[in-house]
Amino acid sequence: MAQSKNLLSPAGLREWWYGQLHQWIPITKYRPYERDAGPHVTPKSQVAAGGGNGRDAPIPPGTLAGGSLPAEEYLSSGEEQVRLMAAELEKAGLEFRDGMRVVEFGCSSGRMTRWLHLLPARAEVYGCDIFAEAVRWARLNLNPSYRFLTTTSNPHLPFEDRSAQLIYAGSVFSHIYELAEAWLLELHRILADDGMAYLTIREKHEFSLFDGKMKDSMIAQWLREDPEARRAADSDFASLELGGFRNPNVFWDLETFREMVQPHLEVRGVVHEAYWGQTAVILARASRS
Ligand SMILES: C[S@@+](CC[C@H](N)C(=O)[O-])C[C@H]1O[C@@H](n2cnc3c(N)ncnc32)[C@H](O)[C@@H]1O
Repeated sequence: MAQSKNLLSPAGLREWWYGQLHQWIPITKYRPYERDAGPHVTPKSQVAAGGGNGRDAPIPPGTLAGGSLPAEEYLSSGEEQVRLMAAELEKAGLEFRDGMRVVEFGCSSGRMTRWLHLLPARAEVYGCDIFAEAVRWARLNLNPSYRFLTTTSNPHLPFEDRSAQLIYAGSVFSHIYELAEAWLLELHRILADDGMAYLTIREKHEFSLFDGKMKDSMIAQWLREDPEARRAADSDFASLELGGFRNPNVFWDLETFREMVQPHLEVRGVVHEAYWGQTAVILARASRS
């Protein structure tokens, strides 16, 4: 068992801060409005106004966008990642057709979703997340034909079996640890026979970046300051969770991840640095599943 850290060390302070930050999440995360704040109104005019695509939609406040990306990077990163995803999926053989169902698992306030009009087909788009306030923001500010829904951290999604031609998740499996297999089986359940999933994961490739072009990232700094985390990262791990249960950062050995998805899903492509340092894994139903 990990020893408790000196509270005044950088690692100790970080642990204390995560504790403060996340202790209320089980109570608040499904609620799109402040607790005990009185009646909560969404005016009809706000719903009717709808929103836009790409640069035509407003930028969400940082609290709903998972951090403090500068506005230009918020926009350009989403655009680049969606363009790359579409190109890699076409290369892997996904057929883009009008009316195809696209499900973004863990969409937050739609940093990537807002660029889905760039896909080579007019898709039926669903975005879901456990972060109700971000989901509500996306519903009110992005393309009104897209549907955004709040889901839960239990491995279930409200879609029919084999109904989604494309499922994608940017940096969601990097925060899911003990439920990873169950979530993969749930995504497998809703994946269409001719569909593909595009999931970004943290894997060992990213560690090579932490000593180089990503040396200023939060995790790179953490590894420099925390010898216990450094030793774990340098070990021959199958999977690694840094950060504790409140905010896990999950890393995989790519071969282990591939073995975990079999026999239900097979890997059709691997794209390093598809999502900042994360690797995208392209999956399709295994032939007999
Ligand atoms: C790092 S953020 C990425 C957000 C978005 N995909 C993007 O690329 O901007 C991870 C998101 O996954 C969501 N998430 C984590 N576990 C989830 C789960 N079990 N179901 C749905 N969303 C989840 C979090 O609420 C958060 O919004």
